[in-house]
Parts: sequence; structure tokens; C-alpha cells
Amino acid sequence: MNRRNAPSRLLAQIAASLDVPPSLSRYIRDLMAPLDALGSSPRQIATRLAAAGARPGWRVLDLACGKGSGAIAVARRCRCRVLGVDAFPPFIDEARIAAERAAVEHLCAFEVGDASRLPRSRFGAFDAAMMIGLFPLARAAALLRRAVRPGGIYIIDDTVRVERGPWARAARRWTAVPTLRESNDVIEALGDRVLWARSLGADQGLRRSRAIVARLRRGVRTLVREHPRLATSARHYLRGQERAERLLCGPLRPTIWVVRRG
Ligand SMILES: C[S@@+](CC[C@H](N)C(=O)[O-])C[C@H]1O[C@@H](n2cnc3c(N)ncnc32)[C@H](O)[C@@H]1O
Repeated sequence: MNRRNAPSRLLAQIAASLDVPPSLSRYIRDLMAPLDALGSSPRQIATRLAAAGARPGWRVLDLACGKGSGAIAVARRCRCRVLGVDAFPPFIDEARIAAERAAVEHLCAFEVGDASRLPRSRFGAFDAAMMIGLFPLARAAALLRRAVRPGGIYIIDDTVRVERGPWARAARRWTAVPTLRESNDVIEALGDRVLWARSLGADQGLRRSRAIVARLRRGVRTLVREHPRLATSARHYLRGQERAERLLCGPLRPTIWVVRRG
């Protein structure tokens, strides 16, 4: 796929991946304007990939790359050659500009595409692959392990339910969300090895959540100034994001896995 507008099925998926309601899906670009990274910390991803052995020249796939922040961080830190794929054309445009600004455009390529349709020609074509904040762990792992060669590395960012500590009791309401141990088991059952997995602590989570909400608030403010009739749905969206972010520093935690394919 290489078109300027995402087809409506994909647009619905893109909006859902960003928790944007259908009534605001035409305004994703405006809402997300203040955010560069739409998932985990790009620096953390690059550091983890370097620790897992990524070397200059490695071919890395970033599926659902958003505005390219993770891909660019990996290119800068590890000097890998990174292909970023995202279904939302405006994000791909921004990723190309950001790569130039970071002076890594020679190491980065970005294309519009559907992450759920990895072409056969790309099976095993990469030394490493990552999916930060799109599919749940099991689905992301199945997809990424297909993209990397045996022995290659893949990185996933998803959410777990806490098992211990002050939030463990409240977390029992969230049994549909797996724990870190359950998620690790899913990966090991594929024949792969979890090299590193870490959930954010409550304090780190709080700092992250506050920063994201502050930026989203700016996006909403600008949107409402330009389109006053969207005020109710935009504020409703913001309240939903504030609730979700509170959960992510309480009973649920953003988590990163670094995995070696068997
Ligand atoms: C939470 S954001 C994460 C973006 C990026 N990985 C980051 O950390 O900044 C989810 C991304 O998935 C993209 N997306 C949603 N559905 C997709 C699909 N089927 N194929 C490719 N990208 C998709 C969205 O456009 C959005 O950029």
C-alpha cells in the first residue's frame, strides 16, 4: 500500500490504536501534533537493542513506527539501517522530516503499509524488529518473529497487570490483562527467549503519564480553538486518556520485552 489516505478500515484501526474515538478520527494529526513518540521511550528502546547486540549495518524493522521516533533513535544509537512502516500517511511524512533533522536519513526508510500484512519477501529479512504500542504481545510476537532471522532480536511494548505490591489487589479486576510472568510464558512457548523484560515502576509511570497528558491537553486545546464544535468530544477523549494514564501507573504497567528468536 502506498497512498495518501488510509482506507476507512485502516483509519478505524489507526484511531483505535491511539484511543481516538471515530468522531475525532479526521483530526488525528492535530491531536497528536504535540507528541513525537506515541508509545515507549525511544531512547530506552535503542539502549535495549544495543545491549542485545545490535551492530552498525543491522537491518531493523519498526512496524507501526508512528512518527519514526523509535526508528530514528535506533539509527542514531546503533547505526542500524531501519525500515519504519505505519498505516497513517501523515506520520510517515513527519518521520521522513524527523530523520533528516536528526541527520540519519541515509539510515532510515519509511513507508506507508499495513503492519498486519507482512509480505512474504520480508520473512526472515531482518536482524531485529520492533512493535511499540500496536498489537497485544501474543500477536506482536507472532508477527515480529516471522520478520527476523533465527537468532534475531525482537522488541515489544505492551501492558501487564501487576502481581505484587500495593496495586496487586486492585489489579485483580483486570484479569483479562496478562501478568508479566504469563506474558513471558507466551513468548517462551513460541521457542524464543526473553532476554530482558521490565515494567515501569509507579513513579516512572506517573512521570510518563503526566508528560503524555500534558501534551495531549495541548493538542486538544489547539483542536478546540480551530473547531469549537468538537469541544465536547475532544474533552471527553482527554478525560478518557487521563483515566487510562492513571491506570498505567497503578494496577497496569507499560512493559518492554527484548526477545531472541529461537
Ligand atoms: C500507539 S502508536 C505507536 C507509534 C510508535 N510505535 C511510537 O512508539 O511512537 C500506534 C501506531 O500504530 C499505527 N497503526 C495502527 N494500525 C496500523 C496498521 N494496521 N498497520 C500499521 N500501522 C498501524 C498508528 O498509525 C500509530 O502510529
